[in-house]
Amino acid sequence: MASRRRRVDIYLLGRGIADGVSQMTLEAMEALRASRVVFDLSGDANAIRKLHHNVIDLFDDYWTGEQCDNVYQRLEEMIVEEVRKNGPGVSIVVDGHPMLFDDVNWSLLHKGRRRGLVVVAIPGISCLDTMMIDVGADLGNGAQIVHANQLLLYDIALDPHQQTYVLQVGKFGTNFFSRETRRNLPGRFTPLAAHLTRFYPADHVATLIVSLGEKSIRRRVRLGKLDEARAFLHRHQDDGLTMYLPARPRPIVNERFASALDDEESLKSIAVLA
Ligand SMILES: C[S@@+](CC[C@H](N)C(=O)[O-])C[C@H]1O[C@@H](n2cnc3c(N)ncnc32)[C@H](O)[C@@H]1O
Repeated sequence: MASRRRRVDIYLLGRGIADGVSQMTLEAMEALRASRVVFDLSGDANAIRKLHHNVIDLFDDYWTGEQCDNVYQRLEEMIVEEVRKNGPGVSIVVDGHPMLFDDVNWSLLHKGRRRGLVVVAIPGISCLDTMMIDVGADLGNGAQIVHANQLLLYDIALDPHQQTYVLQVGKFGTNFFSRETRRNLPGRFTPLAAHLTRFYPADHVATLIVSLGEKSIRRRVRLGKLDEARAFLHRHQDDGLTMYLPARPRPIVNERFASALDDEESLKSIAVLA
């Protein structure tokens, strides 16, 4: 493990997806222990308290019901202020990988140098790592990873021959952290289904999934009937909920290239053999 002797103002750490700290890397634990104060945004501050005596739970600062950009800005200011006032050695612990879909951490990392702060991100286990095992499909085969709202915001075209992970699906249609909503109204997910069925058939089966590490909570639904899953989407909207769309099969379209891949003469024409 790399020893970190240099001054670090802010460590960005991930706790993984399973409850507790079983998926936290040794490297992240070492950084955590070297910290003076730890801000927890991972939803399991008690687990982090077993590793550090000075943990501040930011749960209530996060789930305020405001627009997410306002929340992010306030959290970022709070963290920078802590370093300015009391010095280096601040850790932020989030769920999953600290840099996957995390605007606060990306902003802290990007602006670190400009602020004269040393900000270090340490990789962690993300929901993509665990969901890949849950759904039994290799990310290496190609995947599209998209934010539900961005599909419509930017009219994102999808390749149906690739698997797709639609993140933040439970928050579709709003930038508000919707913790206080009581239920979803009929039709909330119809525009999302309409967008997705431009690329995948309406009877393509999507899996709504909350990955829990060793197990997962799932609901399967045909894309054309996505809105019928709105009660499930509401129930799990704050649990970390993603929609998974498997890839449709495809034939090889470049036969010449396919046969060259297995042909030694072809290899000799592009590289010198040992
Ligand atoms: C703000 S992002 C944070 C991602 C996190 N940093 C990670 O590395 O997994 C939250 C989104 O990630 C996905 N997500 C997070 N935890 C999840 C889980 N346990 N199962 C499935 N998806 C999850 C959901 O799409 C959720 O809306």
